[in-house]
Amino acid sequence: MSSLRPLLSEEIIQKRILELGAEIDRDYPDGTLYLICILKGACFFLADLARAIKRDTFIDFMGISSYGKAKTSSGQVRVTKDLDIAVEGADLLIVEDIIDSGVTLNYLTQLLQQRNPRSVRIATLLDKPERRLRRVDVRYVGFHIPDEFVVGYGLDYAEKYRNLRDVCVLEP
Ligand code: IMP
Ligand code: MG
Repeated sequence: MSSLRPLLSEEIIQKRILELGAEIDRDYPDGTLYLICILKGACFFLADLARAIKRDTFIDFMGISSYGKAKTSSGQVRVTKDLDIAVEGADLLIVEDIIDSGVTLNYLTQLLQQRNPRSVRIATLLDKPERRLRRVDVRYVGFHIPDEFVVGYGLDYAEKYRNLRDVCVLEP
């Protein structure tokens, strides 16, 4: 049996996202910001962050698989759904739920750079910096968290728990 220990409440998450939205609005020059949501975990964060941003945005989705049912990264990254829109010359903001080893986003950033956007930055709700294996330049971080496995607010364990409103530690 595993149990859930609340780590970040809905209120704290929402307050932080409003701050991130305001920071993003201030940072970018005029023009449309392309929000690239990494499925599936980041979909709740994308929905809230996009509404915290007041400038013009485009929204698109990318599917990346690197975990399967395991709790640790397999190190293999695969694109399961590519973007629908062309991104040449665009300001791209990758919206991710959590950065752990960095394998996924290290790969994805390189892939998107090859499409000649004007800029590529990363916004992640959660960051576990202790676990980094690959270098990732993260511009916007919601919360730095310790090395524990978390679920909720989009994050899953074997597809479960995504609909929790808080982020919780999944304890064995
Ligand atoms: P990375 O490639 O190791 O940085 O892994 C990033 C991906 O692993 C995230 O997008 C999540 O899907 C998944 N992941 C990493 N840590 C956790 C966690 O604590 N809970 C749920 N998913 C996680
Ligand atoms: Mg993910």
